[in-house]
Amino acid sequence: MIEFNDKVVKQFTIATIFWGIIGMLVGVIIAVQLAWPAFNFDIPWLTYSRLRPLHTNAVIFAFGGNALLGTSFYVAQRTCQVKLYSNTLASVVFWGFQLVIVGAALTLPFGFTQGKEYAELIWPLDVLLTVVWVLYAIVYFGTIATRTVKHIYVANWFYAAFIITIAVLHIVNNLAIPVNWHLSYPVFSGAVDALVQWWYGHNAVGFFLTAGFLGMMYYFVPKQAERPVYSYRLSIVHFWALVSTYMWAGPHHLQYTSLPDWAQSLGMVFSLVLLAPSWGGMINGIMTLSGAWDKLRSDPIIKMMIVSLSFYGMSTFEGPMMSIKTVNALSHYTDWTIGHVHSGALGWVALMTMACMYSLVPRLWGRDGMYSTHLINVHFWIATLGIVLYIASMWIAGVMQGLMWREVDANGSLVYSHVESIEATFPYYVIRIIGGVLFFIGILIQAYNTWKTIKGAPRPEARASQVDTANAVGEGA
Ligand code: HEM
Ligand code: HEM
Repeated sequence: MIEFNDKVVKQFTIATIFWGIIGMLVGVIIAVQLAWPAFNFDIPWLTYSRLRPLHTNAVIFAFGGNALLGTSFYVAQRTCQVKLYSNTLASVVFWGFQLVIVGAALTLPFGFTQGKEYAELIWPLDVLLTVVWVLYAIVYFGTIATRTVKHIYVANWFYAAFIITIAVLHIVNNLAIPVNWHLSYPVFSGAVDALVQWWYGHNAVGFFLTAGFLGMMYYFVPKQAERPVYSYRLSIVHFWALVSTYMWAGPHHLQYTSLPDWAQSLGMVFSLVLLAPSWGGMINGIMTLSGAWDKLRSDPIIKMMIVSLSFYGMSTFEGPMMSIKTVNALSHYTDWTIGHVHSGALGWVALMTMACMYSLVPRLWGRDGMYSTHLINVHFWIATLGIVLYIASMWIAGVMQGLMWREVDANGSLVYSHVESIEATFPYYVIRIIGGVLFFIGILIQAYNTWKTIKGAPRPEARASQVDTANAVGEGA
């Protein structure tokens, strides 16, 4: 019997839910501030400009990151039929990662930032994160290297791409010369700096918010559906097509800027191509349920996973459309982008994370299932409604803003002032708050359900996680 290290996976699981609550609470606060700016109470560390990066870092890196690190350790052990390469290093990775997050939560509200989106952390935290990441890679790849099965299950390929690429992106985009303990200057400047930043930014979406979660999807969807992956061959094609295309799409964030025109067009073309591998992955995930569609009626976790994959399909259709220059001319700088972001972030990333946590918790703590299936169902509906309110309001607001900003009269003068467009957006900001609050209530319900599950009685054959081997995933099908 292999002594899997589930302790560290349990720690990551609890951290995921904890930081999810914090990150989404801050999301709700900044959503309120956009409607009623007075809600910063004139306190500097509560201002929108400081809380916004706190929100993005908390939801992406703390909520998403803990889920990815934890599940990668779980999946690698099961699919490789071996225990973690080093329990001590795994523990250092967990605590080191939490230290980076706490560092971010302390510095960002006080205004210490590099001013690069999604790479705001000041250089000492960047260095700490680099060390933690290298240790993480050692534990993960050490586990893969010492596996007792020949085959490397496809989920691990996605996790591996995520780990390697994030290391490269993080190091290159943060190359800077420190001048004191919190201030540094980037080695790149001008348009080159912008290109590096959005090569980073877009691939953070591609490899953090997508490849890593696809790894999760490829293990937990078949597991929960109790079916093999629809097409293993497609999953390999999906992997190579996705990783080779994503790298080139970054310039779509810089349309109509001082970036050379050919680079903007290149970004657009690769974004359009990206639709194909993205949909290949979505179809592979959804079709895994073929022959077991009835589970959509009986299992709310499966429902969450399938809706999450549907949002993945939706946002990866919308993204390529927004990268078309003429469409981007309308959407850029508007709330349409925010709608797109959250259809990916809430719909795909957060729902998939929540569903995988529901699937994982009973296995980790050796319970028959979650404390309440009914509450999972309530969570599913409340979250889905929240997402729809959030993204629909932002789409309408975004298109409206874009049209108002370009409206000119017969003399060629702008018809609307900027502040008029903000006034017109107010009702949509209020609807977004309602959507955000619903989504936030969802994760509170999950936290309660998880707590009750952990507190409940274990099932007789105590170490259930040992029973849960890789083969049930149906690899090699
Ligand atoms: C309760 C849930 C949430 C609420 C209420 C919320 C709210 C917000 C608000 C108000 C903004 C600023 C929009 C702006 O600048 O105009 C924002 C930005 C952002 N949020 Fe969220 N959010 C939530 C959950 C999430 C989650 C779970 C993720 C990721 C997994 C996420 C990722 C982002 C990102 C990446 C941005 C920056 C978007 C950009 O710069 O284009 N959010 N969010
Ligand atoms: C085929 C896949 C995708 C393509 C081609 C794509 C394309 C785009 C485009 C064109 C923009 C607008 C850039 C701008 O005008 O500033 C954008 C913004 C964004 N997208 Fe996507 N997208 C894709 C999938 C996703 C997914 C699945 C997520 C989230 C999980 C996501 C997260 C974001 C974020 C966070 C931004 C805002 C970046 C910022 O300005 O701060 N995208 N995307």
